[in-house]
Amino acid sequence: MSGFPEFNYRGNELFVESVPLRKIAETFGTPCYVYSRSALTKAYQKFETAFAGRDHLICYAVKANSNIAILNLFAQLGSGFDIVSGGELQRVLQAGGDPGKTVFSGVGKSRAEMQLALNADILCFNVESEAELITLNEVAQAMGKIAPVSLRVNPDVDAKTHPYISTGLKENKFGIPASAAASIYQSAHQYSNIRFTGLDCHIGSQLTELGPFMQAGEKMLQLLNTLQSQGLEIEHLDLGGGLGIRYAHETPPTIENYVASLCAGTQHIKQRLLIEPGRSLVGNSGILLTRIEYLKHTSARNFAIVDAAMNDLMRPALYDAYHEILPVINNRAELRKYQVVGPVCETGDFLGHDREFAVETGDLLSVMSAGAYGMSMSSNYNTRPRAAEIMVDQDKTYVIRQRETIDQLIASEQTLPQ
Ligand code: LLP
Repeated sequence: MSGFPEFNYRGNELFVESVPLRKIAETFGTPCYVYSRSALTKAYQKFETAFAGRDHLICYAVKANSNIAILNLFAQLGSGFDIVSGGELQRVLQAGGDPGKTVFSGVGKSRAEMQLALNADILCFNVESEAELITLNEVAQAMGKIAPVSLRVNPDVDAKTHPYISTGLKENKFGIPASAAASIYQSAHQYSNIRFTGLDCHIGSQLTELGPFMQAGEKMLQLLNTLQSQGLEIEHLDLGGGLGIRYAHETPPTIENYVASLCAGTQHIKQRLLIEPGRSLVGNSGILLTRIEYLKHTSARNFAIVDAAMNDLMRPALYDAYHEILPVINNRAELRKYQVVGPVCETGDFLGHDREFAVETGDLLSVMSAGAYGMSMSSNYNTRPRAAEIMVDQDKTYVIRQRETIDQLIASEQTLPQ
């Protein structure tokens, strides 16, 4: 058993739904990302089912995986979107996503991005500073539009996650302190082209406990109460994303428990609840498939040198993140401990340390839980074309992104005049 329902061994061979990963490698080459449509759909439906009866909107955080096919799948399931750039907005629109269900997060929105989003009539801007609010008001005024706004409040809560992805402490660059937010809401009349519609927070990513969500929720409810007592009409409460997944031995709350707790904590308010999940929708729905180019045995260590690298999956190098790595064919005899590394010229280029398995040169490995922040954080470092992306739907496979070519990579570059 792999522990991931749609990614399972049949006999000695690892499958995605009904397709052997070996066959995907033969047909499409490696490295490639492989996703399960069923896993994506089930994750989304777990959220929806858990919210049943509560006025809510799930805004998938596009940054986790922005492939148009995945956005389109979620759009068809009824999802809204959380975007952080004009580029992500364009993807959502192209994927058939509803701008009326789209919120725009991020600390540094440009005027051009604000214009795009105002033109598209998005649901809400999650504004992170007074300076941004002033700019948005100006941009909206020039366009003769009213910008719907939530202030992103920094609730000063410790998310107890990796410091690089913890965002809700007062020393982080994100959000506005609750007290400052209250006074900005009160000065609403100063902003002719802003309509305050919501209240927003997001405290971090890969949270494995409910506590910090609940603490942040409490603070948001207090602020909501203050604003309402001052006569402000707030339509929605956006509690951000952040629910963790199991990469190794973590035991994060289930989607059901997480949503049930949010609903229980906000039972007494009438506002619509928004959440912005990314990782918990896509993380365990995708893997990175890679082939062993060489095995290298030294007196100190054994290396499995594979054809995927830190440019394909940056999380191990950037956060020292753990991804389980499974052999696609599991019938070899000689068990050894390997350093799974890529071809990039840095010692930080690894996918896993001290992994024990029996493999031979040419074998395939599956890097698990790579559906979130895998492809979307990939780069062309070392002039490596980015991997292909494949979607499996039962016994069918679809290329949802062609492997990049080197010609595409260098097409927009030019030499200086002689
Ligand atoms: N909303 C906002 C405003 C965010 O900044 C994020 C993620 C999310 C929602 C979605 O959070 P999720 O449900 O995925 O935890 N690259 C890192 C994760 C960065 C998360 C950034 N913000 C990683 O690979 O772990």
